[in-house]
Amino acid sequence: MSSIFVTGGAGYIGTHTCLELLQAGHKVFVYDNLSNSSRLGLERVERITNTSIEFIEGDVTDANALTRALQHSQCESVIHFAGLKAVGESVTNPLAYYHNNVVGTLTLLRAMLAVGLKKLVFSSSATVYGEPQLLPIDEAHPLSATNPYGRTKLVAEDMLRDHFRAYPDWNITILRYFNPVGAHESGLIGEDPKDTPNNLMPYIAQVAIGLRDRLNIWGNDYPTADGTGVRDYIHVVDLAIGHVKAIATPTPSQCIELNLGTGRGYSVLEVLRAFELASGKAIPHEFFPRRPGDVAACYASTKQAESILQWRAERNLEDMCVDHWRWQHLNPAGYGSNNDFASKHAT
Ligand code: NAD
Ligand code: UD1
Repeated sequence: MSSIFVTGGAGYIGTHTCLELLQAGHKVFVYDNLSNSSRLGLERVERITNTSIEFIEGDVTDANALTRALQHSQCESVIHFAGLKAVGESVTNPLAYYHNNVVGTLTLLRAMLAVGLKKLVFSSSATVYGEPQLLPIDEAHPLSATNPYGRTKLVAEDMLRDHFRAYPDWNITILRYFNPVGAHESGLIGEDPKDTPNNLMPYIAQVAIGLRDRLNIWGNDYPTADGTGVRDYIHVVDLAIGHVKAIATPTPSQCIELNLGTGRGYSVLEVLRAFELASGKAIPHEFFPRRPGDVAACYASTKQAESILQWRAERNLEDMCVDHWRWQHLNPAGYGSNNDFASKHAT
């Protein structure tokens, strides 16, 4: 068991990962500026696990504060979630993305060097594969980016690979997530979009709860079985467990890229039907032209993660929808909902 420093640990994937780390017996320090999260998520993780998390409010681009926090934590490894993730916003405000995602990662590497830490798990995305040239996508697939968010992930990945060439005694795991969805089965933590969700499942969930009238389906003329886009949705708890495995695997010094997905693609209409079944609600929907930048189909080869981490995603689409819906209906306004409501109704 070890101590893990988690940047961005108050966010969607971060809270689920902290929970799994604590349940695996690790000690957790969270460093987050709360720009896209609140303390409530971590408080609920503490409640579920009956364990405390040391929280430091700070920005990953603040070199002094970050170095002090790392030093204070005495941690053995770092998981770096902190960053911005909205594709559309990255187009209108690219500098914020380069600052948080690229400068943030650079500042973290320097701070780790300063305190002598060498083990890092980094949040990357399937977005670094650009337009898929073959399916399923394995880690050797050519890399490219179609928007500023994707470019910040690609630059950060390149920086990590260059850093490893200069410091070959480091251990760096770059995890490329496919489409994280769902929530912890308690219904107490989940994704809490601040604005209109861009991603499919949070949008469907808001239609089901009555916050939005209907789902706009972007394209039904793709070369897929039903004409709608196909993605590799992965339950956020499976994703979180992948991080615990990456931390625990006693690997030699290396810099490695691993896909975290299920290896199976589902269309927009398949997800919609599964969510209708899980929620018992009809999801009104309408077809619109394709969304710029979208690809027809994208799903992972998971062989590498399976063999290196001894990990595979276990939760299916039904689990993803049931758990996402439980979180949504217990917390209709996310963490802004009445706390007692969620506490009383959590199973
Ligand atoms: P999130 O926004 O819920 O969590 C990110 C956390 O980082 C938030 O708590 C936010 O307050 C914090 N943060 C942002 N900028 C910071 C800064 N400069 N200093 C300190 N804290 C900062 O997002 P998430 O979905 O949990 O994503 C986590 C990571 O995974 C991100 O790096 C994201 O790019 C990556 N990722 C997410 C997805 C997805 O669909 N959710 C897919 C692929 C990759
Ligand atoms: C999006 C981002 C990608 C990011 C990923 C995970 C874009 C162009 N891409 O990818 O960079 O890594 O999220 O955060 O934003 N859909 C609808 N209606 C909706 C929402 C989505 O029909 O309201 C469809 C999309 O066209 C797509 C599928 O649902 O076919 C999944 O969309 P989404 O959840 O946004 O994920 P990605 O497109 O994979």
